[in-house]
Amino acid sequence: MKGIILAGGTGSRLHPLTLVTSKQLLPVYDKPMIFYPLSILKDAGIGEILIISTPMDTPRFEALLGKGNEYGLQLSYKVQPSPRGLAEAFTLGKEFIGDDTCAMILGDNIFYGSGLASKLKKAVSEAENGLATVFAYKVADPGRFGVVGFDEKGRPVSIEEKPLKPKSSYAVTGLYFYPAGVSKRAEKLRPSKRGEIEITDLTNTYLKEGNLRVERLGRGYKWIDAGTIESLRAASEFVRNKQKKTGKTVGSITGE
Ligand code: DAU
Repeated sequence: MKGIILAGGTGSRLHPLTLVTSKQLLPVYDKPMIFYPLSILKDAGIGEILIISTPMDTPRFEALLGKGNEYGLQLSYKVQPSPRGLAEAFTLGKEFIGDDTCAMILGDNIFYGSGLASKLKKAVSEAENGLATVFAYKVADPGRFGVVGFDEKGRPVSIEEKPLKPKSSYAVTGLYFYPAGVSKRAEKLRPSKRGEIEITDLTNTYLKEGNLRVERLGRGYKWIDAGTIESLRAASEFVRNKQKKTGKTVGSITGE
């Protein structure tokens, strides 16, 4: 399986911090933000990773991480000329993905939990079987996210992007696993009302076919979208506390 980290966007909610640097290079406690999603792909057993960012910031990521050899990774880079939507990652990454299955993670998403690595590996193997996987996490403000609706048996029946009336409190997190052929599907999508190629539209194509797994991340798991000043601060605090308590590095890409 291939992996993509989408680390572009304007970072406008963090201005002026992000006026001359990328959000995903800002520190989350003791390391650059992008280390956290990189470590998640590594935990999933994915070594070939494409980092997509803005024309200004892509060279910065390359300067930081290079070809990834020292981390046991094979890294490559691609520019997204403008932020046209999350699902554009799969058309920009078409050649990189080839006929393979592909995972995508947002560069500002931080995941933590002791059982996570096995859930990630399961998502990788299910993608080989033709099933897509997304992870859902209970939040207080679901209307800011993609939201999963469930039937009475707890099966996913809908995903709506930023609904005014959310059907549940479960947000779709920024980590997606898709079977082979995802670039072709992404090419067929048209921009939404807000002018973006929506990841929710892509995921919904699998849901409609009955080929989507929604894994709930319950108690014991933490998900932080570190895109606001408050969540950035909370992320730093979370990582600091975990590391002090467990003595283990959160977001390690060196294998320690
Ligand atoms: O955080 C999870 C949510 O991410 C999901 O629940 C939603 O379904 C999904 O649409 C997305 O929500 P947002 O629309 O709020 O994402 P945002 O525009 O904030 O972009 C997410 C990150 O991706 C952000 O760090 C900027 C980067 N980005 C965004 C776009 C639109 C890019 O690199 N390129 C882009 O074209």
